[in-house]
Amino acid sequence: MRINIDRLQVGMTLDENIYRGVQLVISHGAIINRRHIEMIQRLDLESVQVLETTINQSPENNDDKYRQSVEKFKAICHTVTLGNLKIYDAVKDCLDPILKQIENNEKMAMQLWQIETADFYTYEHSVKVCMLSILLSKWMEKDQSFIEDIALVGLLHDIGKCNIPNEILNKPDKLTPGEFQVMKTHATLGSVLLNMSKAYSEKILKGVLHHHERFDGKGYPTQLSGINIPEYARIVAVADVFDAMTSNRVYRDRMNPYQVFEIMYEGMGGGLDPDITKLFLNKVKRCYLGMEVILNNGQLGIIENVDTLYPYRPVIKSDEKLVDLTNDGYIEIEYLKIQ
Ligand SMILES: [Fe+2]
Ligand SMILES: [Fe+2]
Repeated sequence: MRINIDRLQVGMTLDENIYRGVQLVISHGAIINRRHIEMIQRLDLESVQVLETTINQSPENNDDKYRQSVEKFKAICHTVTLGNLKIYDAVKDCLDPILKQIENNEKMAMQLWQIETADFYTYEHSVKVCMLSILLSKWMEKDQSFIEDIALVGLLHDIGKCNIPNEILNKPDKLTPGEFQVMKTHATLGSVLLNMSKAYSEKILKGVLHHHERFDGKGYPTQLSGINIPEYARIVAVADVFDAMTSNRVYRDRMNPYQVFEIMYEGMGGGLDPDITKLFLNKVKRCYLGMEVILNNGQLGIIENVDTLYPYRPVIKSDEKLVDLTNDGYIEIEYLKIQ
């Protein structure tokens, strides 16, 4: 159905391709977000074709809920920075819509990497890690009380950064060894802050404290290794690493998920829990089926099949031909098109 662009709302599904000149800018099937609406307004289009079934969706959609949670979490961090640790109710208020949202739309959580982040990195990162940790726990078939706990650990894992000086937190250049030592205190600081708030269980405090431990014992702050690292911390670590690498940072541009899959896959024996990482990669690789890509040889295509030996080397359909990236070590996905 064609609607005037004044009626276009976040959450509707686009039922046509949108071009700027000859360049495709938004693909058929995209779920409209705010950035799309701005883009369409700039293109001076009068109307767009959307799927009729998506027109009367509740205006309170996932994208808005995500933004609200980020805003709420930002307020929580400011409270903590000012020394007020009574955050229990505010945290609950921030988490409830996230828990509901994940229930409704798993795919949305996987599309989180598309959201541009730079200025509010810590807040957005915390909400995204929370969502990914919930998803991972669901895939691990954990029960509801586990999921509520992991949501807290995911959201609060970097809460200690509220008390790290901004010059270090947002430094565009490489941190000096001294600055890095300060940065690393955020894990301990976070668990101390939460302990002082007296609202969270020992398991949650430990999840926060150990989220930078690594499977090979080379993490911090206590160099725990293997399954001696608490499970909450091992789950949040996988979500944390994936989100950090797929997000823009002040000092580097983000990587596309397939580049990150490769790094995670190769590093599975070392840093991250191999079983949790394998499960994560097996599940998320399917979330990108049908997305448009540009390969490093300039070819355009779509992701046709991901059930190959290596999750980061899918089969691409390009010019009606199938290109299996497992067969050619030189061809890689250079760019995954944002819907
Ligand atoms: Fe951290
Ligand atoms: Fe983090």
